[in-house]
Amino acid sequence: MSEQLIFDAKTVALEAAQNAGRVLREMLFHASVREKGPKDLVTDADLAAQSIIEGAIKANFPDHLFIGEESMGDWRESSRGDEWTWLVDPLDGTTNYVHRFPSFAVSIGLIKENELMLGVVFDPMADEMYCAVRGGGATMNALPIQTSQCQKLDEAMVAASFPPHVTKESPEVQQFLEILVQSQSVRRLGSAALNLCYVANGRLDGYWANKLKPWDVAAGILIVEEAGGCLRGIRQQDYSVWDGELIAASSGPLSQEMLKCLQV
Ligand code: IPD
Ligand code: CA
Ligand code: CA
Repeated sequence: MSEQLIFDAKTVALEAAQNAGRVLREMLFHASVREKGPKDLVTDADLAAQSIIEGAIKANFPDHLFIGEESMGDWRESSRGDEWTWLVDPLDGTTNYVHRFPSFAVSIGLIKENELMLGVVFDPMADEMYCAVRGGGATMNALPIQTSQCQKLDEAMVAASFPPHVTKESPEVQQFLEILVQSQSVRRLGSAALNLCYVANGRLDGYWANKLKPWDVAAGILIVEEAGGCLRGIRQQDYSVWDGELIAASSGPLSQEMLKCLQV
């Protein structure tokens, strides 16, 4: 029963991600921009992409809960229960999008009883579709992907996310300095969903963040897990899509080395 549902959900999510991605490409040069908060941007392309995905999901799964970045009420109140819940970021990397920096993605996750069941991330500029189903492995453009298996921080390329309202006192700043010195190299790419996919396919060896939202990471977390990666929290061992902080690493030993640097 659930297997059929997940199969159907995958079909709907892949098609919705393609359609939303096509609209993001089409609107790239004429989307209008406004600030939701300081340095926190939204465009009419974010809204158009969400409406495509929301329409497809609600038409096919009317009894599922839908949490999308651009339409959520108080998401903290909305779920964590037993129901099938979609966590959708129609455009992850809006600041990149506004600057036409080609690193942004559509992210669609499906969770049930706090377990991620399906993750789809689509990068419309690179035409790369990432997908994972719990227990079924992870793919990019339908081909299996795996993490790099890098074990050592001084051989690792690591990425970070900073929240829009970062200050000099934010933990990310001191953490960034520690990782900068101890890793092979550091990147800040501007899309949490793509950072996770790059850990999954071995372009990056590690990634960390302190203040993400469930829709940023739901799909990407499952894609990393299914690609053989290691996920954990920073302040606690456990992590969840609801927490906002996580370390994603190509291997267990690398996640331990990252953790030592990040607990500053
Ligand atoms: C942002 C991106 C960015 C991260 C921010 C997120 P948005 O999402 O994932 O990499 O640093 O914390 O808010 O606003 O572009 O969907
Ligand atoms: Ca996001
Ligand atoms: Ca977004």
